[in-house]
Amino acid sequence: MAAAALLAIAPCVAPAQSKAPQLNSKNVDKVLKAMTLEEKARLLVGGTEVIVNGKLEKVPYAYNDAVGQSHGIERLGIAETYWTDGPAGVRIRPTRQGDSRTFYATGFPVATLLASSWDTDLVERVGRAMGEEVKDYGCDIFLSPALCIHRNPLCGRNFEYYSEDPLIAGAMATAMTKGVQSNGVGVSIKHFAANNCETFRTENTSNVSQRALREIYLRGFERVVKDANPWTIMSSYNKINGVYTQEDYNLLTGILRNEWGFKGMVETDWTGTRNTVAQVHAGNDLMMPGNYEQQKQIVDAVNSGKLSIKDVDRNVRRILELVAKTPSGKGYKAPQVTDLKAHAQVSRKAAEEGMILLKNNGNALPLASGLKVALYGRTSYYLYANGWGSGDVNKVHTISLFQGLSEGGYKVSPELSSIYNSSDSYFKVTPENARLRAEDCDVAIVTFGRNAGEGGDRHVTKGDWYLTDYESQSLKNIVDAFHAKGKKVIVVLNTGGVIETASWSAQPDAILLAWQPGQEGGYAIADILSGKANPSGKLTSTFPVKYEDVPSQNFPSNYNNEPFKADWKNYGYVDYDEGIYVGYRHYLTKGVKVAYPFGYGLSYTTFAFSGVKAQPKGNVINVTVTVKNTGSKAGKEVAEVYVAAPKGKLDKPLRELKGFAKTRLLNPGESQTLVIPVRMDDLASFDEANMQWLTDAGEYTAEVGSDANTILGTAKFNIKKAIVKKAPTKL
Ligand code: BGC
Repeated sequence: MAAAALLAIAPCVAPAQSKAPQLNSKNVDKVLKAMTLEEKARLLVGGTEVIVNGKLEKVPYAYNDAVGQSHGIERLGIAETYWTDGPAGVRIRPTRQGDSRTFYATGFPVATLLASSWDTDLVERVGRAMGEEVKDYGCDIFLSPALCIHRNPLCGRNFEYYSEDPLIAGAMATAMTKGVQSNGVGVSIKHFAANNCETFRTENTSNVSQRALREIYLRGFERVVKDANPWTIMSSYNKINGVYTQEDYNLLTGILRNEWGFKGMVETDWTGTRNTVAQVHAGNDLMMPGNYEQQKQIVDAVNSGKLSIKDVDRNVRRILELVAKTPSGKGYKAPQVTDLKAHAQVSRKAAEEGMILLKNNGNALPLASGLKVALYGRTSYYLYANGWGSGDVNKVHTISLFQGLSEGGYKVSPELSSIYNSSDSYFKVTPENARLRAEDCDVAIVTFGRNAGEGGDRHVTKGDWYLTDYESQSLKNIVDAFHAKGKKVIVVLNTGGVIETASWSAQPDAILLAWQPGQEGGYAIADILSGKANPSGKLTSTFPVKYEDVPSQNFPSNYNNEPFKADWKNYGYVDYDEGIYVGYRHYLTKGVKVAYPFGYGLSYTTFAFSGVKAQPKGNVINVTVTVKNTGSKAGKEVAEVYVAAPKGKLDKPLRELKGFAKTRLLNPGESQTLVIPVRMDDLASFDEANMQWLTDAGEYTAEVGSDANTILGTAKFNIKKAIVKKAPTKL
């Protein structure tokens, strides 16, 4: 551990003591008391730079190649701790100098796919596996889950986030946190908050109303803080209403700690020096990745009276509490191997559960076994397992659809596989090629792939939001040729985000949204196409008919990579003019037609809902529904509970998601009765004029549906007296 050795020789003026206390979870105060100001400053800043013999030295990356580390202080038994990225899996380098072993991590499906499973038990299981890898590879904190809202479909990091809806985002982050932390390692909930675009991401200010902040952008964070006790939270790069979140006392102390009761530690996203004094005062405990200048600023500011030692001690105490409970803090010796085999199975299962069948005309799917497949599209052969940036994983392999189908008993046209497996990624399928394949193959599968990642947003252009000309022309040629022979065409979407579908979706017989499904993706897609698995995923963000229908037109992506022009709107600032009307809240309330609604997804079987009841009990309303498999194949269904509020003081969306549950695998004819708790607190809207949560009195309707546009049963319930809860902190 190179860094620890360096720190041991860093100068520190220690109080005269015979034996300094050695940190454990019971003596935090004692250790704090024994620390010098320099040691405190060092602990508040990530461990990348130290002074050795009066000279500034870079601390080499930790032995486990994590992305960040906190300083250790050997004198006081304060261990270094290690931080690794997520959220699609542990992100460490697979090889180490002078070591012949490899350190691959499992590539799990992206967060949007996980949320599309609507299965919190499954997500918790994925979290357990991820947390195990964090611990096995010697790390302490996992920089995951990420739960920013899909405000606009073009955000480059949407694949790392769960949904356009805060309830499902919060529920998924809660499940993930519980799973990861069950291993005795911590999560870092990110990016707190309103970090909804990548363009100019470190300077952008999100100008948001108090109501939209509370109801849409903070609500998921509130849930995970209250329900799962995350060890750390990452303050984001951006500003909210002109103030950097990292320097915002009202956000990091007022709301997060005083209103919500957060007990953990806050660290910055990976920023350079900002206003260090403001950050420390705000309750931003740890500056990441950290530099020596920040340490110096803290010492100077305390000495000159600009920064209170009370603020410093408060933050240091939180870091000590964290370090004491980490594996590194407890002296855990990580094995540096993990159960890649078992976790690959978890990854595959999760991928299967979150894929969404968007269309299936004439039961085009599932495919009969042993068919000969004309497999088109580069990403049929080179799958996008995840997006790029911190959400990427150094995985041992990525299973393509070509492999999945071949190993699943299908024969892939050798003419096509030799074209795509060589180098022609932009193979344009001419009418003649398509005619030949329609003769010698039984079915066509066409994959369209899209990728995005950190540091940039997507564009409303061909090749991103739209199909390219060669993609749409190829699709048309394939469809014409195969349909002429009475054969089916299946489209698979291998994308981390929403794309335009309305202009071409009538052509193929079936469309499977496979998202970016992790390293086992090709197997999972093949299992669904073959019917070995019955699709049960549902959209957690709407597919609009056209980009112009998206409510958040104030989105800066079109300015990526262009030289700055003085008249640019929403560059460096983004006005959230749509308020709370994000995603389906807008489409439903304004009656805008969509391509595929929020909550939508088909199955190879059919379901009926009955017996909807809503019974208030204490702080919840228990919504009951019986789901019956009325088709001929075993399958799972999600019951989505929306609530329509009475007309009150504040305007409300037509309906909002307030609860959900997924059935177990139901055999044909089998039923399951689900009792889905809706929290009274979740019915409240934010009355910003009075800075309070308000649940109006009156008659509410619980609407149980299979998507936001398809309500299959309703039940009324009453709230007799309005409920008001003050939430005074303004951002
Ligand atoms: C990203 C974070 C990430 C961190 C460390 C930042 O640029 O925004 O999500 O955890 O880098 O890699």
